[in-house]
Amino acid sequence: MTTAERKVIQHRFAPRGAARQLFTDKSPEILLSGPAGTGKSRACLEKLNFCALKYAGMRGLIVRKTAVSLTSTALVTYRKQVAREILANRVVHWYGGSAQEPAQFRYSNGSTIAVGGMDKATRIMSSEYDMIFVQEAIELTVNDWESLTTRLRNGVMPYQQLIADTNPDSDTHWLNQRSLAGNTLMLESRHEDNPMLVDDAGARTERGADYLAKLDALTGVRKLRLRDGLWVAAEGVVYEGWDRQVHLVDRFDIPHDWPRWWSVDFGYTNPFVLQRWAEDPDGRLYRYAETYHTRRLVEDHARDVLKEVTKQRTGEWKEPKPRAIICDHDAEDRATLERHLGMSTIPARKDVGPGIQAVEKRLEAAGDGRPRLLFLRDSVSKRDPALVDAARPASTEEEFPVYVWDSTPGKPPKETPVKDNDHGLDAARYVVAHRDLQGVPRVRFM
Ligand SMILES: Nc1ncnc2c1ncn2[C@@H]1O[C@H](COP(=O)(O)OP(=O)(O)O)[C@@H](O)[C@H]1O
Ligand SMILES: [Mg+2]
Repeated sequence: MTTAERKVIQHRFAPRGAARQLFTDKSPEILLSGPAGTGKSRACLEKLNFCALKYAGMRGLIVRKTAVSLTSTALVTYRKQVAREILANRVVHWYGGSAQEPAQFRYSNGSTIAVGGMDKATRIMSSEYDMIFVQEAIELTVNDWESLTTRLRNGVMPYQQLIADTNPDSDTHWLNQRSLAGNTLMLESRHEDNPMLVDDAGARTERGADYLAKLDALTGVRKLRLRDGLWVAAEGVVYEGWDRQVHLVDRFDIPHDWPRWWSVDFGYTNPFVLQRWAEDPDGRLYRYAETYHTRRLVEDHARDVLKEVTKQRTGEWKEPKPRAIICDHDAEDRATLERHLGMSTIPARKDVGPGIQAVEKRLEAAGDGRPRLLFLRDSVSKRDPALVDAARPASTEEEFPVYVWDSTPGKPPKETPVKDNDHGLDAARYVVAHRDLQGVPRVRFM
């Protein structure tokens, strides 16, 4: 491409497989589906950028369920890899947005690529677009998706298109159904499509071998989806009532007078989890903040949490102090946590069976049609890069679909869960047990 000064800017991108087909296909809705790290997001961003350069004055949009999650993912790939050279040469620049206009990349040929989340949709939905890229499309509702399609009528490009990427979910997910019904073209992206992992001769690169070994270490449905790219339902999940569309909700300002509870599951090699919960006047519990991180000391977690809840200069609390900190039992970790928080803790009721039943009960719709256990999106402020890299759960909501019963032959069915993907769920169970199982006698079978 050439700028006004006729300087040539070079950018290299060689798409393979599904990524290559995405580049030339003009179908109205295309979904790149596949396991983790195959190059899906990169391919979608490359196409969007290519079209912005080719069709002067086109309008594009990069969107995800929440704006916050976009900043740490697709936008990094766009800035560092896709648009690195043209950003450096000011062919494109970032505009932070205004009351009327969404944040966007502005190209010198008049094209724009707006950026936003479906959680704050007003500004992005008031425009029309030629091409929209939805990142991690399984997070959207079918409503979100359909309202985006109504925005595709800017008419500067010769065709209008919704492109999307995702890891697979359950076979019954609306997005899989939509593709089976023929409304969305699903292209299967594979690790072989990514030259960082597999070279032109078909051999694994060093990075590829390392990365694929991590994915090979996954188990259960997570492996089937993130290693093999299959749309499959989890078998034997403990919390059958979990439904991301119901229990995962947009963030809102929590009234100051709602009581707070903290719950903690210790870990070092496994993640340390500290959840902060608020309880509404009807007794509903909302997880609104979460630490979920491996390989850090309890005292570091304590210090970071205190930073989140208190004002830097005065040390004054920004949110109510917890009524109780309900903890996993490790005596040494508890003592360390208490010392560094300057607060006392109480040991959790750990009876697994009753605890699981109490959580399952709360996931059910109550008399008013709403569940009594809810999770605010984007509650983990710093996602653990080691977990994200290894495609492991990096928040409690990611554990629900993969927390399963131990089905080893000879074991009684649906009695003991596999002790994996249970760190945040244990902490959630502790807070629920604390609220719902008080007064229920503790029976110990000897
Ligand atoms: N064709 C390609 N050429 C060079 N690098 C690529 C290519 N495809 C993917 N990558 C790189 O591989 C990494 C993973 O790609 P990404 O698009 O984030 O994967 P996914 O969205 O499938 O999880 C990124 O650093 C990306 O830039
Ligand atoms: Mg991606």
